[in-house]
Amino acid sequence: MSAEVQATAIAHVNMALVKYWGKRDPELFLPWTSSLSMTLDAFWTTTTVRFSTEAGEDQVKLDGAPVAGEQQRRVSRFLDLVRSRAGRTGRAVVDSTNTVPTGAGLASSSSAFAALALATSSACGLSLDPAALSRLARRGSGSASRSIFGGFALWRAGHDDESSYAEPVPAKEDPQFDPVMVVALVDTGHKTVTSRDAMRRTVETSPLFRPWADSAAADLKEMQDAVARGDLDTIGEVAERNALGMHATMLAARPAVRYFTPNTVAVLDAVLELRRAGVSAYYTMDAGPNVKILCHRANADVVAAAVDAAVGCPTAVAGAGPAARLVVRP
Ligand code: DP6
Repeated sequence: MSAEVQATAIAHVNMALVKYWGKRDPELFLPWTSSLSMTLDAFWTTTTVRFSTEAGEDQVKLDGAPVAGEQQRRVSRFLDLVRSRAGRTGRAVVDSTNTVPTGAGLASSSSAFAALALATSSACGLSLDPAALSRLARRGSGSASRSIFGGFALWRAGHDDESSYAEPVPAKEDPQFDPVMVVALVDTGHKTVTSRDAMRRTVETSPLFRPWADSAAADLKEMQDAVARGDLDTIGEVAERNALGMHATMLAARPAVRYFTPNTVAVLDAVLELRRAGVSAYYTMDAGPNVKILCHRANADVVAAAVDAAVGCPTAVAGAGPAARLVVRP
């Protein structure tokens, strides 16, 4: 007889405004630097985890299709971590759906592992507080530590497993402060170098990595203050320079990692053009060609139109999103 237990969780994607790029400890996912993000309402992952008492290989489905190879092993290793903590054995069936393209630099792993951490720990009977859940999610994907929280979140680098987790960042409560990200879907195909491989190569070979990491603490402080003040222009300026710096570290890696394409650059130019015309708009980019443009909600249409005129690609508008939550309890 097999006693099954299951839980379903939803977690939203987050976009870093001060980036996490580089692990000090790849085993424990301890980053070189602290990072700060905004959780987005428009993109999320819904994950159901079902444990049985039967032995056997874990089964993982993403958007209805079975997942195999390294992706499957990555999920299985994460499940092992939770199983060993909970003293549970037996295989799991994981069923996950994304509202965001996977592996395209749209931070799908942030929502994926946050939802997996919440669903798995709940199904296993562990009741974790948000910091403990953030620490657990971190072990699946570093950026997932921040998707446990809604709004703005700060992942403190810490120095060991206990001290490396995210927490909410207080933002100015003011109807005038309603930042959105206009996501320019320049190319949603699968990237050729994963962020994990790219950041490892950057840490190991890029002469620009340490200077960028050293500058992160000042960016973080300025960003936190700007979020507290609701100062979108400063948030944007810091986000832009931090992201460009991160991409510079990759360009200087050996061999170089370059995620942006001619269309990416055309969108960056369109953003500069908007600023010259007096629109507060700032960009950030992750491990992929897509561009996220931070602006006031009132300007989202103008920004989307500028992207359309520049490259004709689709856009999606995302505001601040909620924290990870359980939708089906065990
Ligand atoms: C560029 O969290 O995907 O999006 O920890 O190896 O799973 P792993 O990496 P991941 O890297 C995210 C990098 C980034 C910046 C960020 O989200 O801070």
